[in-house]
Amino acid sequence: MGRRDEGRLAGKVACITGAGSGLGRAMALRFAEEGATIACQDLRWEAADETARLCDGDGHRAYGGDVSDEGDMVSLFAQLYGAYGRLDVQVNNAGVDRLPGDGWDEMMAGQGSQISLMGHEAFTKMLAIHVGGTFTCTREAVKLMGEGGSVITLASIAGLAGWGPVHYASAKGAILGFTRSAARELGAMGIRINAIAPGVIETPMTAGVDEALLAPMVMMTPLKRKGTAEEIADTALHLASDESSFTTGQWISPNGGLITI
Ligand SMILES: NC(=O)c1ccc[n+]([C@@H]2O[C@H](COP(=O)([O-])OP(=O)(O)OC[C@H]3O[C@@H](n4cnc5c(N)ncnc54)[C@H](O)[C@@H]3O)[C@@H](O)[C@H]2O)c1
Repeated sequence: MGRRDEGRLAGKVACITGAGSGLGRAMALRFAEEGATIACQDLRWEAADETARLCDGDGHRAYGGDVSDEGDMVSLFAQLYGAYGRLDVQVNNAGVDRLPGDGWDEMMAGQGSQISLMGHEAFTKMLAIHVGGTFTCTREAVKLMGEGGSVITLASIAGLAGWGPVHYASAKGAILGFTRSAARELGAMGIRINAIAPGVIETPMTAGVDEALLAPMVMMTPLKRKGTAEEIADTALHLASDESSFTTGQWISPNGGLITI
């Protein structure tokens, strides 16, 4: 069992959205190993609860709710205040890459471009989950970060270079803009905010993507493989901890060299 007074995040409280799977779960486990107490949030409460149980040490809790629902998130942070009375690290990780009515399958079947086939609702819902969720969670998190803290946002190479579905790339690009702007405002409060923009990482999300699409990307990747969730968790650990104390408003892209800008 980990001791809460040891490790690179000793004594800190971290909230991770989308903690029931993939990158969120890997971050929760890694942060807990380093002494943090984790609030595991996910739309699927049972999955968040499983992550909380897998985490090393005590005090980890599971929370449900939809990050695109403002009421759910206001309620989440009120519960965090009641449970922990503080927050040191906020990871805005929850997300999806596909939605019903987004035209992706039709495009792949050769029926036209995704832009021409996508419904307006699919586009705005994608923004509500990623950008709206990131905004609301950051707003509520900073209220709990009295003496400073670290916020981590999840962008993507989709937001940097346009890979992937157009609604997803739009949302991930907006997260980069949010991160830069928020860093300028939050610095005076001692709060840092940085984005991780992963390349192709092996998680349940990419398991749902046609391998015929992913294989050429892996071939173009200098390291010739997909990344692992644990590798992204290590990047997040650096941004969450005091090791990155002079880093804010930046993005880091663990992508195996696929994009080098
Ligand atoms: N896997 C990759 O290659 C990759 C690359 C770049 C960026 N990302 C980003 O990393 C983040 C995590 O992705 P992942 O690969 O771990 O995906 P995943 O599908 O394995 O996990 C996402 C989790 O988010 C939860 N979730 C979805 N919508 C939610 C909502 N509205 N409210 C609360 N929870 C919600 C899901 O239930 C799931 O547990 C996402 O933001 C994703 O866009 C992933």
